[in-house]
Amino acid sequence: MTTAHWPSAARTALGDWIRGRFVEINSSLEDLYWGSEDRNSTEPGHELQAELLRSGEELIGQLSSDDLTGGDFDDRFSLLGDVGMFISAVRRHEIERTDGGPNEESPVAAQVAIQLGASLDVAPRFLTAHNQTHNLAINGRYRTFTSGESERLFTDYNTRSVYAYMQAADGLVRAVPLGVSHPVTYDLLRDAAAALRRGVDLNRELNDSLDVDEFFFRVRPYLKPCQIGRTLFRGNNAGDFAAFNEIDTILGLCSMSDPHYAQIVTEKLPFLMPSERQRLEESLRSPNLLDGFVHNFDAADQPWFQKNAAAFLEVIDVLGEGARHHHDEIVKRFITVPTAAIEERHKKRITASGSPLDALIASLERLRDQRSAAPRDDVPTRHDDVQKLRSLIR
Ligand code: HEM
Repeated sequence: MTTAHWPSAARTALGDWIRGRFVEINSSLEDLYWGSEDRNSTEPGHELQAELLRSGEELIGQLSSDDLTGGDFDDRFSLLGDVGMFISAVRRHEIERTDGGPNEESPVAAQVAIQLGASLDVAPRFLTAHNQTHNLAINGRYRTFTSGESERLFTDYNTRSVYAYMQAADGLVRAVPLGVSHPVTYDLLRDAAAALRRGVDLNRELNDSLDVDEFFFRVRPYLKPCQIGRTLFRGNNAGDFAAFNEIDTILGLCSMSDPHYAQIVTEKLPFLMPSERQRLEESLRSPNLLDGFVHNFDAADQPWFQKNAAAFLEVIDVLGEGARHHHDEIVKRFITVPTAAIEERHKKRITASGSPLDALIASLERLRDQRSAAPRDDVPTRHDDVQKLRSLIR
């Protein structure tokens, strides 16, 4: 017989604090930093920072082993979100330990996060799913670090856009067993193109409405890498879902036989929920649609080929447009340009991945060009096959 699991008083107290006083403290600290001479500085606000550390560690310290191992997956995943948000905030405010211990954000919270991560089989930190797809709203408000409008705008748009990409991936996954000549593959490709179009339009709206400085100084710092136990875990980005790589590989634009791409996917796995990881692993084993058309080039004059290949090209055109917009406009405007303007000493851990900015930019450019099937001598792209396919459409 199983017994129903109720949230313990300690679990409830931590959850209430994360949705209440934690938000107030972070918001007040953001206002102090914003108003100071150097907006990168976390110098002002020592009392608030000490309160944040003390209250968070006290509440997390009261969790019992039952909180960490009992309940269902969603309860424990949500708890990891609370503990992980606390760790990310300690990192963001650069709260120094006074006991001379190792350079980690909060040993008390780290211990709990590590146990939760092990029981959930995910990285022991706050993940993208925690603030997007698995972020329960209570009375219209989901969990955020601050009460700032910019954070809300950023999270709303990221979540909407992620769901659009997920919808596109769902259609493409269903097209694989039907094959490129199936009449319903046409419908699925058209739906995928429409979902991607919605994703790109949302990203454009986000780009137009989010203030660069607000994002750079008040939102992005919570998404940095965190030292948890002995390991530095990278921060989160909107790509921490299966959909983006399902789309790449099912279309045939990227492949695990490319060691660089394989490394990106492998490195991402601990930051995905297990259900997402399973989806991703299945898609990596699937045949891809572009190969399906290439193997049928001699059927190019068939009505099915003309119709389905044109729909396929529409999908990759929108995907490429989105990749170019993300890199050439969003990343440039919100990360590259503002980073160039800050002092060298503040550039430590500037990227979510923790890699130096120029290495990150080169890696994102590579992905942009693969998703756009652009001509590149140094990177495997499907430029020639896509060009040939275009030339066959009347
Ligand atoms: C202000 C808005 C955004 C900014 C500044 C931004 C910036 C970045 C940066 C810097 C990275 C690399 C992270 C790292 O490894 O350090 C990244 C990755 C990524 N972002 Fe964004 N992003 C934004 C919004 C979005 C949105 C709305 C989406 C789509 C839902 C998205 C999709 C991705 C994906 C898929 C990746 C992983 C790399 C890839 O597969 O392309 N981003 N983003």
